[in-house]
Amino acid sequence: MPNKITLPKITVQASPDVAFIKYWGKKNEIERIPENGSISMILSGLHTTTTVEFSEKLSNDKIIINGKTADKETKRVTEHLDRIRNLARVTFKARVVSENNFPESTGLSSSSSGFAALTIAATLALALDLSEPELSILARQASGSACRCVCGGIVEWIRGETSSNSYAQTIFPADYWDLRDIVVVINSEKKKISSTAGHITARSSIFFETRQKNIQDKIEKMKKIIAKKDFASFGELLENECLEFHSILFTSQPPLIMWQAETLALFKEVMDMRNNGLPAYVTINTGHNVHIITLPKYQKDVMEKIKELNFVKKILLTKIGGKPVILDEHLF
Ligand code: PMV
Repeated sequence: MPNKITLPKITVQASPDVAFIKYWGKKNEIERIPENGSISMILSGLHTTTTVEFSEKLSNDKIIINGKTADKETKRVTEHLDRIRNLARVTFKARVVSENNFPESTGLSSSSSGFAALTIAATLALALDLSEPELSILARQASGSACRCVCGGIVEWIRGETSSNSYAQTIFPADYWDLRDIVVVINSEKKKISSTAGHITARSSIFFETRQKNIQDKIEKMKKIIAKKDFASFGELLENECLEFHSILFTSQPPLIMWQAETLALFKEVMDMRNNGLPAYVTINTGHNVHIITLPKYQKDVMEKIKELNFVKKILLTKIGGKPVILDEHLF
């Protein structure tokens, strides 16, 4: 009897990102084509490490996330593996082992790095030779923000009209601007509402149409400010976008209130720091943890002030990160 086929085992490490201009709402739910473009920075030092191995010996996909057999994520991962198997015209099942080095489901976007790493590892394991835009399009279908995390540096996701032109690309390399993101974990509790569910209700906010009318101008403005490295203007626009985004969440039906009391307390603390001459600005995703963006020369002082707050559980210091890396290719 012939030996059963096992393909190479590939390990890829990808970082999550934080959006300066947020993706919120989908024009096409199934293809995950967004209502608007977005801009983000990849977060160096935080990562998901994913190993994928396809084998004829497996009767089902086996998915292990952070040491445990995944239950609620299994369907989404298997559906993504199916997209990749269809492209490669194979039916082999896969073993996927994935680990995050940061708390998940707390607004730190583990799905962005997770599906970016899975897309690259699985396509390589099946010897598919895809370009970066092709990888981005594929990752987008599993998790919108993952399409940005196959790239490095500061990234723009161009909305696009159809699946084949909705993808992300690097607009500034990782070393272009030494921005620091101080990620403040106030609580490692998992959030109760997923982004996937929130995108669906985005249109129910009375502010949504106004946001859509202005968002492309905001994206262009953000790109110009980054090009000039004008930190004060960057920070003002970053916070304005964060508050606009959460206003959409607050006024959606049902309302989505992701913040906890400590989220607001920290936001105000950062505003106070600024009033006292310490430039730092806030952005918050669909979670309660807070990203504080500052420059290297202010980082130490900002961190000292935050450490004094008794509700702060953890501080993760990051800067702009690069593209995903292939850690290992085990050929046998
Ligand atoms: O990719 P998703 O479905 O997890 O949505 C991400 C939504 C935000 O993080 C709030 C914004 C963004 O652009 O990352």
